[in-house]
Amino acid sequence: MRTIRIALIGYGNVGRAFAEMLLRKEDFIRNEFDAKAVITAICTASRGACIRPEGIDTRTLTEEMFDRERDAFAVIESGEYDVMIELTPINIMTGQPATDHVRRALALGKHVITANKGPIAWHYRELRDLAKAQGVGFCHEATVMDGTPVYNLTKETLQGCRITEVSGIFNATTNFILTEMEKGVSFEDAVAEGRRQGFVEADASMDVDGWDAAAKLTALMNVLMDVEITPLEIERTGIGEITKADIDAAKAQGKRIKLLCRGTVEKGKPVGVVAPTLVDEHTLPAIMDATSSYVTIDTDLMGATTVIEEPFEPEIDHTAYGLLSDLFRILTDFSHKALR
Ligand SMILES: NC(=O)c1ccc[n+]([C@@H]2O[C@H](COP(=O)([O-])OP(=O)(O)OC[C@H]3O[C@@H](n4cnc5c(N)ncnc54)[C@H](OP(=O)(O)O)[C@@H]3O)[C@@H](O)[C@H]2O)c1
Repeated sequence: MRTIRIALIGYGNVGRAFAEMLLRKEDFIRNEFDAKAVITAICTASRGACIRPEGIDTRTLTEEMFDRERDAFAVIESGEYDVMIELTPINIMTGQPATDHVRRALALGKHVITANKGPIAWHYRELRDLAKAQGVGFCHEATVMDGTPVYNLTKETLQGCRITEVSGIFNATTNFILTEMEKGVSFEDAVAEGRRQGFVEADASMDVDGWDAAAKLTALMNVLMDVEITPLEIERTGIGEITKADIDAAKAQGKRIKLLCRGTVEKGKPVGVVAPTLVDEHTLPAIMDATSSYVTIDTDLMGATTVIEEPFEPEIDHTAYGLLSDLFRILTDFSHKALR
């Protein structure tokens, strides 16, 4: 039986949900891949690093097991892992420090999985090429629409198709706020309700101003359309200026307002737009309520394929599954390579 050793850089909501899911799927991993997945390192900003080459039982993890003197790079340099999973908070404006974490682990010949879209939105081509040169996996399914298959689906089932456009609703928070406002709830109360339900950040501006959607659009374009674009180059308008009067006026015309994203290549130049848009009732974007999102992938050979992410409880499991599916991809693609 193979052992695949995992280092978690960041151990917040997603890291904990992933560790728990790994335990739930222990038998499946053994039966399907003849493998045992072991977490050998965990690192957080405030606690430092816990490195245990023999494996960490996350059910009995305590503060005392962490060494405050060691940081993410100490874990990455330790080499006591086969796969590094990047789970630190995103910096949409720079993609750091996640990009440096990913770059270093790949340079050391380690597989990398990231839920952090910063590295994909800022340096995808460089990191993809580095992974290829090193003969390791670089997976990022959870960066857009959590675990809903977008990258893996495209890779597996749309082989040979050229992707000509990506479009959709990529930000669940703004979709929730717009949906609540249609019910007569104020913008502020909708944000407060989202916070109460746990999916709106303390600082909602990255969602409300369209930055999160822009980063996801960038990530999709970079990966699926093989372009080099950053979130700063996306033409971006958020929903902060949308008023109750705008929503009512849309309703009176049989329309709804949705924060739509669209990425294409025009005359060889990548063009990405995130903007509140009037859509006809009963069309696909119009019926995406609450925290649903979707992406439509247009291709030269297959026309359009649409994938929808529906609300699910607990929501965090979607993201954890994205990481797990990437781990399965690595176990499959590198089955020839002795992991341990
Ligand atoms: N939550 C979701 O539903 C979701 C969905 C898709 C993608 N993502 C992405 O997944 C990533 C993790 O999200 P999350 O919700 O788990 O975030 P979180 O709960 O805020 O956890 C972040 C973790 O990263 C640690 N950290 C911060 N800076 C670090 C550094 N320089 N070195 C090492 N560790 C560091 C934090 O340490 P401390 O605890 O000590 O502060 C914490 O453990 C983010 O990039 C996010 O955008 C999240």
